[in-house]
Amino acid sequence: MQAEEVARPRILAAHWPAGAAEPPPSAARAIDEAAGILAGGGLVAIPTETVYGLAGLALDPAVVSRIFAAKGRPARNPLIVHVADTVAARRLAASWPDSANTIAARFWPGPVTIVVPRRDEVPAIVTAGGPTVAIRCPAHPVARRLLEVLGRPLAAPSANRSMGVSPTTAAHVAASLGTAIDAILDAGPCDRGIESTVIDCSCSPPRILRPGPVGRDAIEEALGGPVAAAGGEPSPVLRSPGLTGRHYAPRATLELDDAPAARALDWLARGLRVGIIALPTADLASLAAAKNAVLIRLPGDPAGYARDLYAAIHSLDDAGVDAIVVESPPTGEPWNAIRDRLSRAAIRGE
Ligand code: TXA
Ligand code: MG
Repeated sequence: MQAEEVARPRILAAHWPAGAAEPPPSAARAIDEAAGILAGGGLVAIPTETVYGLAGLALDPAVVSRIFAAKGRPARNPLIVHVADTVAARRLAASWPDSANTIAARFWPGPVTIVVPRRDEVPAIVTAGGPTVAIRCPAHPVARRLLEVLGRPLAAPSANRSMGVSPTTAAHVAASLGTAIDAILDAGPCDRGIESTVIDCSCSPPRILRPGPVGRDAIEEALGGPVAAAGGEPSPVLRSPGLTGRHYAPRATLELDDAPAARALDWLARGLRVGIIALPTADLASLAAAKNAVLIRLPGDPAGYARDLYAAIHSLDDAGVDAIVVESPPTGEPWNAIRDRLSRAAIRGE
């Protein structure tokens, strides 16, 4: 390797201590560097409170097409545009319905994406040719500072190859996208761990297109009325392609089961290596002596479980297991987004 060659992707360390009003100088420099790469048309994976996003200038169609290429994402699946505040969001929207205003006021900055009619300035490639644009104002301090320094909106899908498991650490991003991107802004693991709630405010009543960290109850309470929920009638157009079929899928076959130990023993008896993701209460004693079983227990509360779920799946894929058996999570609204992601990961691929 030539001395002047720079390894890709560059890792820009930007650790921002929880609760600090300002970043340490090294993090501030990393954020400035990332802003410079982005302003020059580069692609940078950025931390958000949900998952890492693969960011590029949203209003530059050539940059956006490189995002699609790096992910191997079909052109029919639109991207979320990230902004620093509601003022910047409204510049992308042809209209700003009352419902969007209420949700932005209540949940931004935060893990909620709002779909509104798009302005012509938003390139068609961002919205997959559709009449609406999805906008999110992230809460992560590094993402916020980056958007402020840059002063321009960023298109950022999750920073993984299309259909794969979203990344919650810089290492996940590097393993999945590697040299296809210019840099990774590394701020440590993401706090929320699953992708934002997507709510379509271009219709009335608003409709939840993807369940996420902010639940339906909280949105209905903010709006003072009912919303339509995800998973309704199948639509001929891809209203939110993240809702269709298999998605968020590991390399290994993933199954949900109420009795994970027994199911894992079935797989082990066939000579396969098995990963088990279980709740704290699961009885896994029958697997204690199994050499080909890798056990991971996740927290019993939905926020903790969501935070750690994708890292557990990534680590089992890395361990080379053939199958992942996930103990079925509880029912009820707080577990809704987790059940959604797990059931999509469990759909058998082509
Ligand atoms: O938490 C998140 O939302 C992360 C972080 C990086 O912000 N981003 C993310 O992006 O999950 P992505 O591209 O992996 O998922 C975006 C979802 C997809 O299901 C997409 O189809 C949907 O949002 N979407 C984007 N634009 C839309 C639009 N105009 N109308 C309906 N759905 C849209
Ligand atoms: Mg994604």
